[in-house]
Amino acid sequence: MENAELYVSSNGLQRRDALMVLRGALPAMNWEPEGEKILDIGCGSGDVTRNLLLPLLPTVDQVVGVDVSHDMVTFASKNFEHNSLSFKQLDIARIIQPRQIFPEGFTKIFSFYCLHWIPDQEQCLTNVLQLLQPGGEALLVFLAQHPLFTMYERMAEKPRWAEYMKDVSNFVPRYQYKADPAADFANTATEIGFEVLECKAPQLFYVFENINYLINAIKAVNPFLPRIPKNDHDAFVKDCLQVLADMNTPQQDGRTFAHYNLMVAHLTRPE
Ligand SMILES: C[S@@+](CC[C@H](N)C(=O)[O-])C[C@H]1O[C@@H](n2cnc3c(N)ncnc32)[C@H](O)[C@@H]1O
Repeated sequence: MENAELYVSSNGLQRRDALMVLRGALPAMNWEPEGEKILDIGCGSGDVTRNLLLPLLPTVDQVVGVDVSHDMVTFASKNFEHNSLSFKQLDIARIIQPRQIFPEGFTKIFSFYCLHWIPDQEQCLTNVLQLLQPGGEALLVFLAQHPLFTMYERMAEKPRWAEYMKDVSNFVPRYQYKADPAADFANTATEIGFEVLECKAPQLFYVFENINYLINAIKAVNPFLPRIPKNDHDAFVKDCLQVLADMNTPQQDGRTFAHYNLMVAHLTRPE
């Protein structure tokens, strides 16, 4: 997913959820009067870090947003840098010894709508743990289950798209078909060494007010589109819409209704 400009104009769902979770979770975290070092993993276009996270932080010394995508980081740096906020390219699933990159570590780590992109949850969580200072807290928010991922699986079965989607299973979160995704994630986090303060995966509901919002959302967060020839993009998106319509995502008067489960995990690194 590298279309920063399209993403920043079509991430209403992500912004709504980040705001809702932050308002509930920030008061439950321990805040030092000064010196809070904050990391935002998978910051994307940077608007959530700059416009939602930063203003809501009770105290802050420094915020760093990281993202695997060079284009996202370039866009974020250009549009959302601030005297206490910078952006850097980093793959949270692949780095080894992350403290070589950030020697002081962080007192708080946030991540919104990113961890469902990462098949190796253990490596990712190991890195998050190492980047946290002892006593530090992490708030990890990502999709546990969403009809979009079942749509990917069905699209991958279609002969026209199969060759571009052979690795579709890498893009379906591990929790997509779990009866209790929150318990599953909490177990993994505990095994890695976190103390789990809270972990839940509530079912939420979002209305895409018109078909263009849905089309832009599908395009902006689609890992397969960059592999497909440009003149087939419209046909691909049309098929995506048809597959969604055939699933349990009712459409009415041009609006599309999506039910999904959002993982919200509040973790701490024991002292
Ligand atoms: C849907 S966007 C979310 C952006 C922003 N946090 C928000 O809430 O609007 C997911 C971001 O995660 C990034 N991402 C995916 N895998 C990653 C990884 N292994 N390390 C760092 N970032 C990653 C993607 O490049 C993308 O920008």
